[in-house]
Amino acid sequence: MTSIIDHLENKTILVTGVTGFLGKVFVEKILRVQPNIKKLYVLIRASDPNSALHRFHTEVTPVAGDMALENLGVTNVDLLNEMRTQIDVVVNSAATTKFDERYDVAFAINTLGVKHVSSFVNECSKIKLLLLVSTAYVSGEKSGIILETPFKMGETLNGRNDLNIKEEKKMIHERHTQLAFEKANEEAISTTMKDLGIQRAQIHGWPNTYVFTKAMGEMLVFEGLRQDLPLVVLRPTIVTSTYKEPFPGWTEGVKSIDSFTVAYGRGRTSTFLGDPSKVLDLVPVDMVINAMLIAIVVHFKKPYSRIIYNVGSSKSNPLRISSFVNYLCDYFAKYPLMSRDGNPIRASNKIRMLSSIASFHRHMAIRYIIPLKVFNSLHY
Ligand SMILES: NC(=O)c1ccc[n+]([C@@H]2O[C@H](COP(=O)([O-])OP(=O)(O)OC[C@H]3O[C@@H](n4cnc5c(N)ncnc54)[C@H](OP(=O)(O)O)[C@@H]3O)[C@@H](O)[C@H]2O)c1
Repeated sequence: MTSIIDHLENKTILVTGVTGFLGKVFVEKILRVQPNIKKLYVLIRASDPNSALHRFHTEVTPVAGDMALENLGVTNVDLLNEMRTQIDVVVNSAATTKFDERYDVAFAINTLGVKHVSSFVNECSKIKLLLLVSTAYVSGEKSGIILETPFKMGETLNGRNDLNIKEEKKMIHERHTQLAFEKANEEAISTTMKDLGIQRAQIHGWPNTYVFTKAMGEMLVFEGLRQDLPLVVLRPTIVTSTYKEPFPGWTEGVKSIDSFTVAYGRGRTSTFLGDPSKVLDLVPVDMVINAMLIAIVVHFKKPYSRIIYNVGSSKSNPLRISSFVNYLCDYFAKYPLMSRDGNPIRASNKIRMLSSIASFHRHMAIRYIIPLKVFNSLHY
């Protein structure tokens, strides 16, 4: 670790997504372990520098921008030129992480945003590395050992290999034009765009809009980044709170598996949909950050090196769903959450497992007294 920390001395790094979970933990670690970093630029989604400053007022240089726009939305030409001549490493962590995000939004950030980042990197004169944070679930619902192979342009997960990113962009544009013609209101636009995302993802074999648009982002970076520039694509699995650093248990927001943990701790649910014998791939955020730092050092200034790393736990330290729910029961029995009036919330002492989608349907039908036939016809 010491040599890794030394390596970061006097380096200039641009980080996106710093108001998010991974980005925040990454910046904290860099500032803590390497006080002699030359400069950190942090791209913060904001339309003007004052609101960016307001959101992030430490010893870094906040850059007001938006990665969904050309030049990362940075309109200050002097600052843009300074960044282009100074930056050694770009770490792109920014993304929209909602699984069912509107297609136009997810496409603009997760797909075109990555294209804008790689175009920016192509213009940086001192650049030594681009690290793109992706997700292990770009591989969809495959099981077994997933190899760290790049996507070919146009590849799909259902073998049709007929994905055309330009056509996807055109389709979004056409759908917007049609909605404008129909004078659709915001709600209708949002619903249509959400549905379109899920539909396009599933047509091409991905389970949701988020992972589909992230996969297209990967395709564009492999295509668009100058061949000689080192590229690391890091694909973490489900990122959870810190294991150790800077202290155990730091998390941000309530996302993915945390939603269940919190709902269970609050006594709102005692039912988990999942096969207890299956492995849940969770990885603490501080381990992901360490993997990022090591990847930066290992691939720094290695021309023509392009590599993908999966970062997860299921191979080396598998966590079965059954163990996960047992840990929850034990934890909340010992450390119950408190209600608003200061009383401990008693979570159920047992979590009922629904190990198949059929048992989930039965549970929902019984619980909400909807005839099963009707429920099944409503679902999907
Ligand atoms: N968390 C996980 O379980 C997980 C698992 C695998 C991979 N990942 C990947 O890890 C990365 C970070 O995830 P996270 O959990 O930290 O996500 P997060 O908490 O949702 O943060 C996302 C970040 O991206 C920024 N962002 C979104 N759109 C932007 C735009 N147009 N321009 C500039 N910044 C923008 C957000 O800024 P605002 O504050 O302005 O919204 C925020 O800082 C993502 O690439 C994600 O795909 C996450």
